[in-house]
Amino acid sequence: MAAKRPCTVTATVVLTLFLWTHLSVQAPVNGSKWSYLGAEGEKMWAKKYPFCGGLFQSPIDFHDDILQYDSTLLPIELEGYNVSSFEQFILTNNGHSVKMSLSPTMNVRSLPNRYSAAQLHLHWGNRNKQEGSEHTIGGRHFAAELHIVHYNSDQYLDMNSAADKSDGLAVLAILIEIGQFNPSYEKIFSHFQNVKYKDQETSISAFNVQELLPDRLDEYYRYEGSLTTPPCYPSVLWTVFRKPVQVSQEQLLALETALYCTQQNDPAPLEMVNNFRRVQEFERMVLVSFRQDPVRSGLSIGFVLSVVVASSLGAVAVLALAFWLIRRKKSSKRTKEDKGVIYKPAISKEEENTSKA
Ligand SMILES: *[C@@H]1O[C@H](CO)[C@@H](O)[C@H](O)[C@H]1NC(C)=O
Ligand SMILES: *[C@@H]1O[C@H](CO)[C@@H](O)[C@H](O)[C@H]1NC(C)=O
Ligand SMILES: [Zn+2]
Repeated sequence: MAAKRPCTVTATVVLTLFLWTHLSVQAPVNGSKWSYLGAEGEKMWAKKYPFCGGLFQSPIDFHDDILQYDSTLLPIELEGYNVSSFEQFILTNNGHSVKMSLSPTMNVRSLPNRYSAAQLHLHWGNRNKQEGSEHTIGGRHFAAELHIVHYNSDQYLDMNSAADKSDGLAVLAILIEIGQFNPSYEKIFSHFQNVKYKDQETSISAFNVQELLPDRLDEYYRYEGSLTTPPCYPSVLWTVFRKPVQVSQEQLLALETALYCTQQNDPAPLEMVNNFRRVQEFERMVLVSFRQDPVRSGLSIGFVLSVVVASSLGAVAVLALAFWLIRRKKSSKRTKEDKGVIYKPAISKEEENTSKA
């Protein structure tokens, strides 16, 4: 018996250690049931979340042959977006993104129902490949993408009860490119150090959330799609603004390097990078509130007009030149005849004066 005891103790220690390390590696501390990479990557989402393999999935690519101009699409109208700095937004690392809670007193008007804000979050790439937007335009990624998620507050009590209804959600999407430093985005980005790890949260002073949007709220892509993360409910009325906003290279780098998908004490920390879903098959039309640039649609009226104008101007110029040449020939003949007699003395006098100055 005395000989057995150390054995039992050792076995228990080994088993405990095994379970502890095994479990903590297998499921990074009750971690996410999905991810963007590896065994639970997006190709596997549909196994646990069947909607992810279903219809109306997002994001998508906006290319010319699926775009259709719709003159009835009104400019986006926001209400209550300028939140008093006496209020607070909660910033959270949820293991998939950095998320900021929003006030339901913020609304989007100019949609079929009133939609109230619930939260915003971001998608991005990594420091070596800064192409992390979810939606693409003509196959081209932007550096990152901001989603402001709203629920249909005319029909539903809150975000949770709306999320799986076909008219439940409306998301405003803002494409982000590298450029000028953006003081409004900094109001969020400057707090990343407090939410580096999963489940950490911090509160930040509220501000005018409209500052995060591009100036032109009248130019956007509109289609019916889904959440871009599990459970991928096909419940989202998408508004993707045409014009991107800018953040600086340093700001983008902060987004790409500050955060982790794992909890603080996780032995295998996982950087929060490339948290964007790949574009999905799309066989319908996307409505656009703006007319496409003429250059992109081949021989448009604008293009033909400019060719006509340019060639007329060219013809006029050639005529003018010819006319001028003929006149010059005539007049030079005349001056040759007149020359010596009248002008010679005047010129030599002038030359004397200037050489003294
Ligand atoms: C892990 O997740 C399950 C299901 O969401 C939950 O019931 C449980 O309380 C969680 N455990 C811990 C330790 O967070
Ligand atoms: C937002 O609200 C603040 C404080 O109420 C005010 O000073 C500011 O002018 C408002 N900004 C806009 C763009 O309306
Ligand atoms: Zn999103």
